[in-house]
Amino acid sequence: MYELTPETPEDTPEVEALMDLCFAPGRTALSSYRLREGVPAVAALCLLLRDGSGVLLGAIRYWPVEVGGHPTLLLGPVAVHPTTQGEGLGGLLMRESLERASALGWSRVMLVGDLPYYSRFGFSKLEGVEMPPPTNPDRVLGLELADDAWREVMGPVTRHQGRGDAENPRDEDAAREGSALAPAKG
Ligand SMILES: CC(C)(COP(=O)(O)OP(=O)(O)OC[C@H]1O[C@@H](n2cnc3c(N)ncnc32)[C@H](O)[C@@H]1OP(=O)(O)O)[C@@H](O)C(=O)NCCC(=O)NCCS
Repeated sequence: MYELTPETPEDTPEVEALMDLCFAPGRTALSSYRLREGVPAVAALCLLLRDGSGVLLGAIRYWPVEVGGHPTLLLGPVAVHPTTQGEGLGGLLMRESLERASALGWSRVMLVGDLPYYSRFGFSKLEGVEMPPPTNPDRVLGLELADDAWREVMGPVTRHQGRGDAENPRDEDAAREGSALAPAKG
C-alpha cells in the first residue's frame, strides 16, 4: 500500500536527504538549480510516495520556468529510494504528476534527463531550447500536455519572473498577454 501526498515544508529535510542519496554529490551545482533558486516550486505538483509505514520511497518536484518567455514546467528532480527502484514507483510519480499538471492547465513540460527513460512518458528531444550551460543539449527533453504546445516555443530557458500565478498557468498566460480576461487578484 502506498500513500501519495503533496510535499509540505515539514517534509522538505526528508526529501532533500532522499535526493542526496539518489544523486551524485554536487547535484545542486547543475544549471537547472540556478533556474530554481529563489523561485517557489509548484506546490500542487511536488508529490511524495510513502509506504504503509510512512517511509519515504520517492519524490518528484516541479518548478515554473520560461522558455522564450512562455510559461513552462521544469520537471525534476525525481528520485526513488535505491531499495525500491525498478518497481514502477518512478513511473507512478511521473504519470500522476503529469496528469495533475495537465488538469491544472499547464501545456508544456521540460526536463534535463535520459531520453531512454523519459521517452516512455512521451518526452522527446527539444530543438532550439537552450538551458544555461553547461547542459548537454541531447538531454533537454519536452512533452506537450496540449496540442502543439511546443510549436514555435524556443529560446533560452529563464527563471520564472513572477508575473501571474505559477500555480495557475491559465491565469499566467492571460496575464502575460495583457488579456482583459485575466481574473483580478485580490
Ligand atoms: C530514475 C528513477 C527516478 C526511476 O524510478 P524507478 O522507480 O526506478 O523507475 P520505474 O520502476 O518506474 O522504471 C524502471 C525502468 O526504468 C529504467 N530506467 C531507470 N533509470 C533509467 C535511466 N537513467 N535510463 C534509462 N532507463 C532507466 C529501468 O531500467 C527500468 O526499465 P524496465 O522497465 O525496462 O525494466 C530512479 O531510478 C532514480 O531515482 N534514480 C536515481 C536518480 C535519477 O537518476 N533521477 C532521474 C534524473 S534524470
